[in-house]
Amino acid sequence: MDNRPIGVFDSGLGGLTAVKELRRLLPQEDIVYFGDTGRVPYGSRGRDTILAFAAQDMAFLKRHDIKMVVSACGTVSSVMTDQLARSIGVPFTGVVLPTAQAACAASTTGVIGVIGTSATVHSGSFARAVRNIRSDARVLGRPCPLFVPLVENGYIAPGNPVTKLVAQEYLSAFDDEPEMDTLILGCTHFPLIYDIIADYFHYDITLIDSGKATARYVEGFLTEQGMLARREKPGETEYYVTDAADDFSSVAQRFLGSPLGDQVHRIPIEELGALPQERK
Ligand code: DGL
Repeated sequence: MDNRPIGVFDSGLGGLTAVKELRRLLPQEDIVYFGDTGRVPYGSRGRDTILAFAAQDMAFLKRHDIKMVVSACGTVSSVMTDQLARSIGVPFTGVVLPTAQAACAASTTGVIGVIGTSATVHSGSFARAVRNIRSDARVLGRPCPLFVPLVENGYIAPGNPVTKLVAQEYLSAFDDEPEMDTLILGCTHFPLIYDIIADYFHYDITLIDSGKATARYVEGFLTEQGMLARREKPGETEYYVTDAADDFSSVAQRFLGSPLGDQVHRIPIEELGALPQERK
């Protein structure tokens, strides 16, 4: 048994896809969420910057005496190094392996699409993880960076015309791939516009939600390690963001389906300390 909270982070709202599923699967767990809304997006930045931000994000979570770190961010997970993941001193998971496992289990044809940020798709992380599990798989990638600001700005209603137009532009890349039966939502922001993406394919394709797949992996890991929390009352979730808490709260509330109230705290970016490359 371990009653310490699970630490979850993302560049913004995307990691809430993992939080929502964690709360459903493991209602007794406390969660500390960190969304770096002051510096989103991460996915159009270079690898070193993403790793430097991730190091700060994890160090912030570590101050909350967490038992595990979940990088609920496809971008961070795609460039994460073993050294950085180990440096945090508690078990770590990203979204790549759990999502690749779920996609391989879902696909019959072995033709699997991946959409994510530019950094994620260009890293080839999901393609590698899929082929490690299923060497005959054909993986087709398409960066969809504009989905991230659309989600952060609340353009998530199923019929939103702007998001639908952007989806058409991006997803038409798969029009000539009739064998593709599974699509990895390799950015955790994307499940917030799940219906718009599914609608483009007329719901014929299995969409793999990286946040959900990762939450299921965390459940399995904590169970196996004997690290689940045990308490009488439901666990609590605290949210920390680096920009206006109100903006985060209103989109988060629509997605999670319940008000976040005073559980959202704003912390100035300066409080995260110096970026790793600036430390001497
Ligand atoms: N939610 C993120 C991901 O899974 C980050 C998007 C971004 O910051 O560009 O990739």
